[in-house]
Amino acid sequence: MKFGHFDDKNREYVITNPQTPWPWINYLGNEDFFSLISNTAGGYTFYKDAKFRRLTRYRYNNVPMDSGGRYFYIKDEDTIWSPGWKPCKTELDSYECRHGMNYTSIQGEKNGVTAKTLFFVPLQTWAEVQKLTLTNNSKEKKKLTLFSFTEWCLWNAASDMENFQRNFSTGEVEIEGSVIYHKTEYKERRNHYAFYSVNAPIKGFDTDRETFFGLYNGFDEPQVVARGNPANSVAHGWSPIASHCIGVELLPGESKDFVFILGYVENDQEEKWESKNIINKTKAKDTISRFDTAAKVDAAFSELRAYWDNLLSIYIVNSGNEKLDRMVNIWNQYQCMVTFCFSRSASFFESGIGRGMGFRDSNQDLIGFVHQIPERARERIIDIASTQFPDGGCYHQYQPLTKRGNNDVGGGFNDDPLWLILGTISYIKESGDFTILDEIVPFDNNMSIAKTLFDHLTVSFDHVVNNLGPHGLPLIGRADWNDCLNLNCFSNDPNESFQTTGNKTEGSKAESLMIAGLFVIYGKDYVELCKKLGKTGEAARAQIEIDKMTDAVKQHGWDGRWFIRAYDYYGHKIGSNENEEGKIFIESNGWCTMAGIGQEEGMCRKALDSVNELLSCEHGIVLNNPAFTKYYIEYGEISSYPPGYKENAAVFCHNNPWIMIAETVIGRGDQAWEYYKKICPSYLEEASDLHKTEPYVYTQMIAGKDAFKPGEAKNSWLTGTASWNFYAISQFILGIRPDYDGIKVDPCIPSTWEGFEVIRKFRGATYNIRVINKNHVRKGVSRIIIDGRLSDSNLIPVFEAGTTHSVLLEMG
Ligand code: BGC
Repeated sequence: MKFGHFDDKNREYVITNPQTPWPWINYLGNEDFFSLISNTAGGYTFYKDAKFRRLTRYRYNNVPMDSGGRYFYIKDEDTIWSPGWKPCKTELDSYECRHGMNYTSIQGEKNGVTAKTLFFVPLQTWAEVQKLTLTNNSKEKKKLTLFSFTEWCLWNAASDMENFQRNFSTGEVEIEGSVIYHKTEYKERRNHYAFYSVNAPIKGFDTDRETFFGLYNGFDEPQVVARGNPANSVAHGWSPIASHCIGVELLPGESKDFVFILGYVENDQEEKWESKNIINKTKAKDTISRFDTAAKVDAAFSELRAYWDNLLSIYIVNSGNEKLDRMVNIWNQYQCMVTFCFSRSASFFESGIGRGMGFRDSNQDLIGFVHQIPERARERIIDIASTQFPDGGCYHQYQPLTKRGNNDVGGGFNDDPLWLILGTISYIKESGDFTILDEIVPFDNNMSIAKTLFDHLTVSFDHVVNNLGPHGLPLIGRADWNDCLNLNCFSNDPNESFQTTGNKTEGSKAESLMIAGLFVIYGKDYVELCKKLGKTGEAARAQIEIDKMTDAVKQHGWDGRWFIRAYDYYGHKIGSNENEEGKIFIESNGWCTMAGIGQEEGMCRKALDSVNELLSCEHGIVLNNPAFTKYYIEYGEISSYPPGYKENAAVFCHNNPWIMIAETVIGRGDQAWEYYKKICPSYLEEASDLHKTEPYVYTQMIAGKDAFKPGEAKNSWLTGTASWNFYAISQFILGIRPDYDGIKVDPCIPSTWEGFEVIRKFRGATYNIRVINKNHVRKGVSRIIIDGRLSDSNLIPVFEAGTTHSVLLEMG
C-alpha cells in the first residue's frame, strides 16, 4: 500500500494521506541552521548541534506519536483545523505534503479555505522561513483567526528533558511588535537568543504554555484558540512558547500571505544589550527584513532550488528505469547530503542528544557526498583527523559544536583509523587536490602535537600493524564496524555499556577479519598514494604488511566455504561452520572479497555464493546466520537483540552494498543488481505499510528473516547505507569511478540491460558517457571512443574545466 507518490520532475515525494505508518520526515537547512519536519509539521530546529543548541522542543517516542512542531491553528467559526492535519486532527477536505530538496510544503483545505505552508531554511541564513498562504475558495467572505505556535527548548536538549528543578524557573522572553524573542539564560554565560516573527500586525500573542493550552490539554486543544482570543501571556519560567494571533478577513477568491521566521542570533559580548536587560535585536531585525514580503521569500526559495539543481547536475543517470533514476539522481544523493550534515545525531530515531559525529561514520558519509561540494568534505576531513590520537587511534565520536572528541565514549574501536584513509583518498580522487595532505592537523585537538594529514594516514595504517593478535590478524578493540560485536566486554551488569566496558582487554586474542579486509583494501590505497607522492620506501614497507595480512587471512581466516568473522577473547572462531549460531557473517565476507583476498584460489566466489545461500532473503542480506537465540557473554551486545533485529541478523542495510561491490569485483552484475533492488526504497514503495518508513530514503535496518515481522524497517535517514549505496551503484554497478588522473568507466550490470547514459561533471569538465551493452555481457569493455577517437584505456583523462566531452563505451 502507498501513501503518496514520487514527483520526479519537481524532485518531491508527495504524501496524500497524513496518517503515514510512521512520521515521514524531511530536513531543512544544510549548513549551520537545521530543522527536522514531518509530514504533519512536527519536528524541531537547532543551530549546528542538536544537543547543545536546540531551539525548539520535541517529544520523542510520545503518545501520540510526533508531538511538537511548528503548528498553525485556523479558527473558522466553530471549526478549528491545522493545515498538516495534526495537531488538531480535524478531518480535512484535502491534504498534501510535498517533501523536496531541503524544503517541505504542506497544504490542507477545510470548509472552502486552503492553507498552504512552505517551510525552508534560506541559504546562508540562521532561520527557518515559513510562508503561509490562506485562500478563500468559497463564495462567502471568511473571517478567520490564525494562531501560530512553537515551543522553545532551553538550549541544551538533554538538560531540557531532565533538570526541571532549574528549568521551570529560568524561562524568559521579550515581545516587541510582532516578534517574540526567547532569551532564557542570555544574561549570564550565553550570548544567543531565538525569535519567532510574522510580517503582519498581530491581535495579540502568548508566550506561556500553560496559558495557551490549559494545564491538562494536549496540542490538539489549546484553550486560547478555542476561545478565539490571545491572552497576551508573558512567560516567567515554566515553559516558554511563541504564539501569534492574527485576524484574517478574506473575500471570496482572495489570498493572503504571511511570513513567519523562526531564527537564531549570536551577539558579541560588547553588543549584547540594547538597554538594561533588553537584548540587542539588530541582527534579528536584519534577518526579518530580508524576508518580510512573500516576493523576497519566493526569491530565496528560487535560490535554494537553483542550488539543488546545481548539486544534482554533477551525476545524472538516464537508464530508462525510473525507480533507479530517481534514487541515483535525486533521493540517494539528497540523503548523502543529510548524512554528511548530521552523521548519526538527529533524526526521528536519533534523539540529537546521544551521538554527535562518528569518526568512522563521517568518513564513510563523505564517499557519497564528496562530489557535491568537495570543499566541505575537505573541512570535514580535517575536523575528523583532529580528533585522532598520536598513535593512530581516535575518539569514536565528537560534538559538532565544539569539534572535540567525546570522552564518554572514548576510543579503542580498531577499525576507526582506516576509514580516514578512505575519506581522504575519496576526496583527493574527486578533487585532484593533494595539498590536503600537507595540512598541519592536530592530534587530540592539540596543536602542539600536530603533524601533516599524510602523517595521520600513516599512523592510521600503523595502528593496525601495531595491534595484531596471535594469528597476525587485527585486534578488534572495543568493536570494529559492528559496534555490537563486543569481544572484550564480558558484561553481566545491565547498567554497563557494551561499548565502553572492557574489563578483559589484557591478553585478549580477539581478532577481526573485517578489519583485516579493510586493511588490505585501504592499505593498498595507501601504498598507491605513497607511490604517487614518490614515497617509494614507505610504499614498499606498507606493501609488506599488506602481503602478510593477506596471507594471515588465507591461512587463519578461511573456513572452507566463507571467511570467518573473528576470533573471540579466547581465540575461538566466530562465524565458522563450527559455531552453533552465528556461523556466517556478512562483514568479513564483504571486506575480504572486496579486497580480492584468495580470488585466484576461488575463495571470493565461494564466499559470495555462501552469502547468497545463507544470508540473502527476500528483504535483503542479513548480517549473520543463524541468529543468536541466547546471550553470549563473550560476544556482547549482538546477542542481546532478539533474532532478526539490528546487528543480530537483521538486514543491516549499511553492509549490503559491500556485497554488491564484491559481486562487481568478481563480475556478477546480475547478482549485484538483485541485491541493490532488494533494499532500494523506491522499489519498496508499494509495500509502505509493511516497510513503515519513508519510501524515498534508506533505513539502517530492515527486520530479517528470523524476525517477528520480516521486512519492517527502522532507523531511516541517518545511516551509512546512504553513502554506501550511492557509492555502489554510481561507482561500481554503473561503474563511473573518480581516480587520481581521470574518471574510470567500468560498469558491471545485469546482462539484460541494453546500456545507459551518465552525465558526470568532474573537476569542472562535463563527461557525457554512453554505455552500450549490445553483447549483453555483465562486465568488460570492448571499445571506447572519447570525443570521436578510439581510446585504449577506460580511464578518461581530466579535461580542462568548462569543456564538454563525449565518451562512448561498448561493453563486451
Ligand atoms: C553506527 C555505526 C556502526 C553500525 C553497526 C550504526 O548505528 O552508527 O558506526 O558501524 O551501527 O554497528
